[in-house]
Amino acid sequence: MIAQAFTSTDHPLLAHIIPIRRCNLACEYCNEYDDFSKPVPTKTMFQRVDKLADLGTSVITISGGEPLLHPELDQIIGRARKRGMIAGLITNGYLLVAERIERLNRAGLEWLQISIDNVTPDEVSKKSLKVLDKKLELLAEYAAECDASRQVLAKLDLETEVLFRDRLVSARWVVIHMIEETGRHAGHLDVIRENLDGVTGE
Ligand SMILES: C[S@@+](CC[C@H](N)C(=O)[O-])C[C@H]1O[C@@H](n2cnc3c(N)ncnc32)[C@H](O)[C@@H]1O
Ligand code: SF4
Repeated sequence: MIAQAFTSTDHPLLAHIIPIRRCNLACEYCNEYDDFSKPVPTKTMFQRVDKLADLGTSVITISGGEPLLHPELDQIIGRARKRGMIAGLITNGYLLVAERIERLNRAGLEWLQISIDNVTPDEVSKKSLKVLDKKLELLAEYAAECDASRQVLAKLDLETEVLFRDRLVSARWVVIHMIEETGRHAGHLDVIRENLDGVTGE
């Protein structure tokens, strides 16, 4: 798909869409936000996504304002993926918590840009490494946990028996259990989240 995106010239390669102009920050240099706009209705966003798909757009970048303020962002991402486009997101990162990362993954988000302007917050921008570092760690830990699980699983036949607590279960059982865990309380993210904000599953 990526090769086709670059070799064919008769379609849009990449389009930015804005699901909400409101922002939770107020960077001094920015003129692309306000503090009052309502989210663009999801139905309207679907129409825009569909139009871009009909034009043969390869990549959709969801920006803002602050896109994580849109209450149905997951559905918009899902719509773009369903229509065969690569879906990315540009965010100031402030609203990223474990549960939100999990939801974005589940929606099919393929890439994420977190904008960082400085090391410590100042009067121009609060998008600072000092504030966002924990979010980056959270994303990295999540990716590492998923990768480690995939590597272990790739070496196993699904009927292989493995030790789970005090009993032997099949690798298939473990995979199904992980899907259930993810559905129930965000799977691997539980441990990371507990470290960050003290909230646990159940
Ligand atoms: C408008 S923001 C929207 C998404 C999100 N709120 C964020 O800050 O990442 C998208 C990107 O545009 C950048 N930006 C904002 N104002 C700009 C300007 N005047 N010139 C160049 N880039 C700008 C931001 O730093 C950010 O990386
Ligand atoms: S966080 Fe993004 S949208 Fe908000 S003011 Fe800063 S650059 Fe603009």
